[in-house]
Amino acid sequence: MRVADLDTPALIVDLDRLEANLDRVAAFARAADLTLRPHTKTHKTPHIAQLQLARGAAGITVAKLGEAEAMAAAGIDDIFIAHQIVGPQKIERLLALAERLKITVGVDSRDVAAPLSTASAQRGIRLPVLIEVDIGLRRCGIPPGQVPDFTREINALPGLNLSGLFTYPGQVYAARTENEVAGIAAYECRILNDLTRQISPLLGVAPRVSGGSTPTAPHYVAGCGLTEIRPGSYVFNDRTQIDRWAAQPTDCALTVLATVVSTPEPGRAVLDAGSKSLAADLAPDSPGHGMLKEDNHAVLVKLNEEHGFLDLSDAVLKPKVGDKVEVIPNHSCVVSNLFDEIVAARGGEVLETWPIVARGKSR
Ligand SMILES: Cc1ncc(COP(=O)(O)O)c(C=O)c1O
Repeated sequence: MRVADLDTPALIVDLDRLEANLDRVAAFARAADLTLRPHTKTHKTPHIAQLQLARGAAGITVAKLGEAEAMAAAGIDDIFIAHQIVGPQKIERLLALAERLKITVGVDSRDVAAPLSTASAQRGIRLPVLIEVDIGLRRCGIPPGQVPDFTREINALPGLNLSGLFTYPGQVYAARTENEVAGIAAYECRILNDLTRQISPLLGVAPRVSGGSTPTAPHYVAGCGLTEIRPGSYVFNDRTQIDRWAAQPTDCALTVLATVVSTPEPGRAVLDAGSKSLAADLAPDSPGHGMLKEDNHAVLVKLNEEHGFLDLSDAVLKPKVGDKVEVIPNHSCVVSNLFDEIVAARGGEVLETWPIVARGKSR
């Protein structure tokens, strides 16, 4: 079957592009002597996680416990939840996983760490934890200056195995130039190098130091101060990664196949895919809500829930009612959460369908 024969909206991954993306970042990690632990929130699909592991990833990262449970059920046994786990129901589920596989979580306060410590100690578990350090995103995480004291505090808690630090340089999405991206990676490395020197004697071992993102991934080198990187978006790429110098349009592997359902006037077409298929996220610099794979000058200028407003005034492509087109989204991580399955195709030929097992697992 050809992709164009599928009913729409449908989520498509171009296997040639996916494999090239996976290989490229695996090569960056190898060249920089860094462990690769991809963030799988981008695809939420165990089959793609297995492709990452097959290319040398040491384990995976997830954002949510529900994602960890879905990936664990698919046989993945080394998972970092890059989030704070709060509340008794979640701690219970976390420790049930920790009894079966290697699961690490973030901590950035005593309020988060103390209940984890008590519950782990009661079950005879030493739960691996990483301290979350804020290097400029101003989300979770403690300031670098507080890390030595907090290390001593967490190290003294029973039931926890403090293994190191993690950062996320998410401010990179507000960078205005490629040089600024490199500067953010260099800043992250400098901070983490300093902190490694300070906390190594407290831990008695070299810390695990986890950081990175897709735009900063090419900027790390061997000995840079990190031991592990967690890029996520690189798997599919999207218009956000194009805007942040991490991808070209031909690197975008994920598309939403849609049908043209109306051409009300020349230069305009309406698709049967809106915000419930493409999400409403904007890209940092590119206008609108997505562009066509077939013609990047055809831009979705507006979305309703089930309608995409396609502006063709600068486009060469002149689609007719009934034609199918592929939309490159602004932000692939949110789009994968909107579909039950992803159709894997090579050269326009449908090869396989993979369930997006962790979609909607936000709890
Ligand atoms: C904690 C954490 N680590 C890694 C990533 C992966 O980042 P990116 O999608 O920029 O590669 C994210 C993305 O949101 C994140 O929140």
